[in-house]
Amino acid sequence: MKIFLIGFMGCGKSTLGRKLATKLGYDFIDLDHQIEMLAGMPIGEFFAAKGEPAFRVFESKTLKEFNYPDNCVVATGGGAPCYFDNMQWINENGLSVYIEMPPTALAKRLEGGKDKRPLLKDMNEDELIAFIAAKLEERNPFYQQANQIVNGISLTPDALRVLVLSDV
Ligand code: S3P
Repeated sequence: MKIFLIGFMGCGKSTLGRKLATKLGYDFIDLDHQIEMLAGMPIGEFFAAKGEPAFRVFESKTLKEFNYPDNCVVATGGGAPCYFDNMQWINENGLSVYIEMPPTALAKRLEGGKDKRPLLKDMNEDELIAFIAAKLEERNPFYQQANQIVNGISLTPDALRVLVLSDV
């Protein structure tokens, strides 16, 4: 089974995904990391050099063309399900789980790591919360198409494991 974790930046896709994969004995794949390896540069540099539209094309191609093992947990980038037919592709190729969280909680988690995320750099706390709220509204129609929706606050790898196994 392929499990695709989706949700906004900072919701815990990579951290929880890695632990979930270990618990299930599955491989873990971080899509952002794959993009960086294939592009030969960090995502921040990609945005700066080629712009967001080029990043979205590259992201979609990487999502669809990656050679996934049969059993894996995939952490997707926060925007990945929201462009082209990516969400449909995800649902046709695996089990999607949306890790849902309110803007204030996401902002708190993202405050420290803004440098790594080109969409957030240079924002103060209020701007960050407003940006997240607006983006979440825009992305919600895609995130809500997930097979499973789970509250990310206090979510543990074990709870996530029980949730995904209920869908096998
Ligand atoms: C993005 C999220 C990032 C990364 C890129 C754009 C987004 O991934 O793909 O910076 O549009 O939400 P994470 O959600 O893993 O931070």
